[in-house]
Amino acid sequence: MNILIVGGGGREHAIAVALRKSPKVEKLFCAPGNAGISRIAECFPVKATDLDGIVELAQKLKPDYVFVAPDDPLVMGLVDKLNDAGFRTFGPKADAAILEGSKAFSKALMKKYNIPTAAYETFTDAEKAIAYIKQKNSYPAVIKCDGLALGKGVIIAQNFEEAEAAVKSMMIDQKFGKSGAEVVIEEFMEGTEVTVLAFTDGKSVKPMVSSMDHKRVYDNDEGLNTGGMGTIAPNPLYTDKVAEECMKKIFIPTINAMQAEGRPFKGCLYFGLMLTNMGAKVVEYNCRFGDPETQVVLPLLETDLVDIIEAIYEERLGELDIKWSGKSCACVVMASGGYPEKYETGKEITGLDENGQLPDGSAFVYHAGTKLEDGKYLTAGGRVLGVTATGDTLEAALMTAYIALGDISFDKAHMRSDIGQRALDYIKA
Ligand code: AMP
Ligand code: GLY
Repeated sequence: MNILIVGGGGREHAIAVALRKSPKVEKLFCAPGNAGISRIAECFPVKATDLDGIVELAQKLKPDYVFVAPDDPLVMGLVDKLNDAGFRTFGPKADAAILEGSKAFSKALMKKYNIPTAAYETFTDAEKAIAYIKQKNSYPAVIKCDGLALGKGVIIAQNFEEAEAAVKSMMIDQKFGKSGAEVVIEEFMEGTEVTVLAFTDGKSVKPMVSSMDHKRVYDNDEGLNTGGMGTIAPNPLYTDKVAEECMKKIFIPTINAMQAEGRPFKGCLYFGLMLTNMGAKVVEYNCRFGDPETQVVLPLLETDLVDIIEAIYEERLGELDIKWSGKSCACVVMASGGYPEKYETGKEITGLDENGQLPDGSAFVYHAGTKLEDGKYLTAGGRVLGVTATGDTLEAALMTAYIALGDISFDKAHMRSDIGQRALDYIKA
């Protein structure tokens, strides 16, 4: 079987590694890919958002499946276009990807089907939004762009001035373009966050091992929000009891709601959850695998990913028994200094062998933003590498990842030194 992966970050590298393990896979292709991915898949310089370019590439390569990994092409309807052209795919169609593409849609869905989430109102008029914030007079206030904004469209305002500035930047200055034409203003939820990725064919839902992202750029969760500075799996706060509650009150109701709306969701549904003292609530849905959650979840998967992809496409996921290793996994992101704001690229990365891996193989290095020039690995993005290790315990996995990371360097590299610390404290308490 030949498979084309669409995307080019650490998540796509992790998907490529998982597919490479399958005895069913012969050729792996990736567009656009990156330097690390190019060692295990043939990469083509077509952007994931160039929908016609991807369809043309598929027509040339004739893959058995096209795996669409990033949010933008999913929301834009790449899966629909590929299906129309006769290709089998992994990923939701546009009418289901809207679960991530429009927060106004997902909030309304949750309200209609009684799925626990923060109370909210939506606005298309900036003055009305500001008047509502003033009248509520409750802080922190959470202000979100309706559409996609590279993970930057959420502002937690501590006072009226910050809230007003957030509404103005989204709705009047159009900082996020059309994504901010509508805003969601919601109640602030207190608690701990858990990510649960789930396979679904639109009828059954099979949650994967839980994980914990670390979104802020600095230790102790300080500084700006990023795409994610590191992850661990499983998340010890997500106990069997919580999992049971989420299955009953969130996962199954969401899948059924989408089915009832005539928008069956097929692919990986990302549940961003807040464990509050009133129970688990949905913070957000994403229509795809998380990054860097995928880097710690897929290494624990024992079932052949190709079998899962086929079962989802053919809508027989319910029959499949998905197995996990029971181990722990940790991923520490090495980012360019300055990320998530301004940063430089083109820095030489030292410590990697010709495959972009550690010569001793102690940890796996997922490439997020790298390029290969004259046999040298160079930085090419904000998040550069995700150094990932598996262990019998979370503590062992973290130690291996941090030791391995010490052998890799590039100018102005930045990483958090406390990935997994909160989870370890929780386990020890
Ligand atoms: P989102 O893109 O909706 O996941 O929001 C990004 C981040 O903002 C989340 O991961 C949370 O840390 C935080 N956040 C979003 N909504 C809320 C909320 N209602 N209460 C508390 N924190 C939130
Ligand atoms: N790590 C958060 C996300 O993928 O949206």
